[in-house]
Amino acid sequence: MEKNYKNIKIIVKGSYGCASATAADIIGGFVTAQPSGVLGLATGSTPEGAYTKLIEAHRTGKLDFSRITSFNLDEYHPIENTNSQSYVYYMRDKLFNHINIDPANTHLPNGEAPDPHAECAVYEAKIAAAGGIGLQVLGIGLNGHIGFNEPATAFPRATNYVELEASTINANARFFDNADDVPKHALTMGIGTIFSAKQILLVVTGAAKADIVNEAIFGDITPQVPASILQLHPNVTLVMDESAAAKVLENLK
Ligand code: PGA
Repeated sequence: MEKNYKNIKIIVKGSYGCASATAADIIGGFVTAQPSGVLGLATGSTPEGAYTKLIEAHRTGKLDFSRITSFNLDEYHPIENTNSQSYVYYMRDKLFNHINIDPANTHLPNGEAPDPHAECAVYEAKIAAAGGIGLQVLGIGLNGHIGFNEPATAFPRATNYVELEASTINANARFFDNADDVPKHALTMGIGTIFSAKQILLVVTGAAKADIVNEAIFGDITPQVPASILQLHPNVTLVMDESAAAKVLENLK
């Protein structure tokens, strides 16, 4: 199912696998059209399927990442790059080590930086120097966060140092031995950084996200639901599986 709502192209697929294939097609389409473009990437469970499909497409000779630059949304702080729960480790493990992207062209906020505020400024400047993000891949948190921009009283503009909400720590505890090991802070692109991307791909899967994605698309535009800002962006594609789309489909009737 495909439908446009405001500037958002909504695509609903029958399963996580089909939604991942569609997300990978959109990312692959960008890489083909803009072989030296700038990709904004995300971590978490949601994009793993799409990354697997991109690896397959690269292995069969369909995608060349050799001139692509990438910037990831976020990273815990503090965390060592060698920690298997760091996002830099995730990206190498799930994507970078399996495609021909130049490691020198891949960027994440540095979870080892001694001064997190200074690192935010450095990261924002690197994105600006690369000409901004061409296609930004996003997931959504159960609390409506994008990147690690948690519900707040204002939309953070640039890359910022954040304290994670208890709900985010609980949601991410599944990856750690226990919840106390989840870092309490993170470095994240700001809402302004994300919003400046020319194109946005929001991927949302699973029944647990049905309420929050519905609120983000049809609710008030408010920093209490950071993803709601996407209602104002001129070029958003929202890819969902049927379980995540349940409430959105009701509203589209
Ligand atoms: P998830 O995380 O893909 O692991 O659900 C998404 C997010 O928190 O942004």
